[in-house]
Amino acid sequence: MEKFLWGCATSSAQIEGAYLTDGRTPSIWDNIDFKKVKNNDNCHIACDFFHHYKQDIKLAKSLGINSLRISLSWSRIIPSENKINSKGIKFYNDVINEMIKNNIEPMITIYHWDLPLWVHKLGGWENKKIINLFEFYCKVCANEFTDRVKYWFVFNEPQIFLTGGYYKGDTAPFHKNKYNFGETATNTLIAHKKGVDALRKFSKQKIKVGIAMSTSIFVPKENNKIEINKAYKKSFESSYGRKWNAFYSDPMILGKPVKYDKINRIKIKDIKNIKVKLDFIGINIYLPAVDRYYKKIRSDLTTTNWVVDERCIYYVCKYFYKRYKLPLMISENGFAVEDELKNGIINDNKRCRYLKYYLNELDKIKKEGIPIFGYLYWSLLDNFEWTSGYYPRFGLVYVDYRTLKRYKKKSFYFYSKYIKNSNY
Ligand code: BGC
Repeated sequence: MEKFLWGCATSSAQIEGAYLTDGRTPSIWDNIDFKKVKNNDNCHIACDFFHHYKQDIKLAKSLGINSLRISLSWSRIIPSENKINSKGIKFYNDVINEMIKNNIEPMITIYHWDLPLWVHKLGGWENKKIINLFEFYCKVCANEFTDRVKYWFVFNEPQIFLTGGYYKGDTAPFHKNKYNFGETATNTLIAHKKGVDALRKFSKQKIKVGIAMSTSIFVPKENNKIEINKAYKKSFESSYGRKWNAFYSDPMILGKPVKYDKINRIKIKDIKNIKVKLDFIGINIYLPAVDRYYKKIRSDLTTTNWVVDERCIYYVCKYFYKRYKLPLMISENGFAVEDELKNGIINDNKRCRYLKYYLNELDKIKKEGIPIFGYLYWSLLDNFEWTSGYYPRFGLVYVDYRTLKRYKKKSFYFYSKYIKNSNY
């Protein structure tokens, strides 16, 4: 049996900084109107992982994790059309090699929302041209990194970068183009398949390719078969469930288009270019869907504004496995709180409790025999939380953004001990 992957997840725009170093060009996140970000923060320096990666990987090792999910900055690797940046590739090779040296399995997300500005200027995901550009990027990743990297996530959460970025307009690039949304989604899903195919075709070893999906499922009102099935149906077939949980994964994995706002935005004729064979699904799990029947179970724990309910670990795994029948990896799960640094110490007791409850549910669902091969805490470090800036802190490691010094939080030790004592 392969080892269970205990790890953490991170992403390039949120931690790397060095946004113009060694030939990198800006991504859309480097160039937004910063008035849209809390406290007008930007990600130009972030945690400066670019210059601190050795220290951060050492921290990861001392945490006791055996895997770390990073993402690649497309514009560090391909800073303009048809140009490959050898310095950008060297940076990721150094990071990957450092992880391997420290017995940490490197896992890569190819696209975690930081669209190169030059691609955006060509129309971004709204222009079909992105399909070939993305395929080329994936081919470069396969050529350069698949000799050492076995686990790949082609996208992180299309729900956010597409629905948020091009339909609701609440995240970069802040477009609200409902009319064109079907085409945008179709381009993206075709690019996804081409990316997966290119990765496999040019890879240097047998790799495992998946995607990280945002999840938002309804927990059953009561723990009995009827209610469990009702909540399952609602999670994928209600208007909310279709939009959030099914719209991208049903066409991709099951080959079935799903109505979005009563419209068939993805056409049957495109399905052959969208349906793709994945090796696993990454599920990012934070909070359940909340409707008027929802009964809170944890009023004692609050995050900046998210409901805390560990049952979503159990039910997301159950429901995603029932629907897609693919091995699962919990590719993100985490908790933001306003941590305070006092004399070098962060007593984040709430995060420890959160972890205890959520990990207990992981244990429960694993015991039911559902194939879950990893759990990644979001995140190793406090980081740039998109339009919320640096305000919410998700890390097991506190980052002082003025000095860039890192401090292990109490939850760091909690997770470390949990992993050590776990029997998988
Ligand atoms: C994203 C991360 C983000 C986290 C917490 C996930 O949706 O993949 O980039 O930081 O949630 O908001």
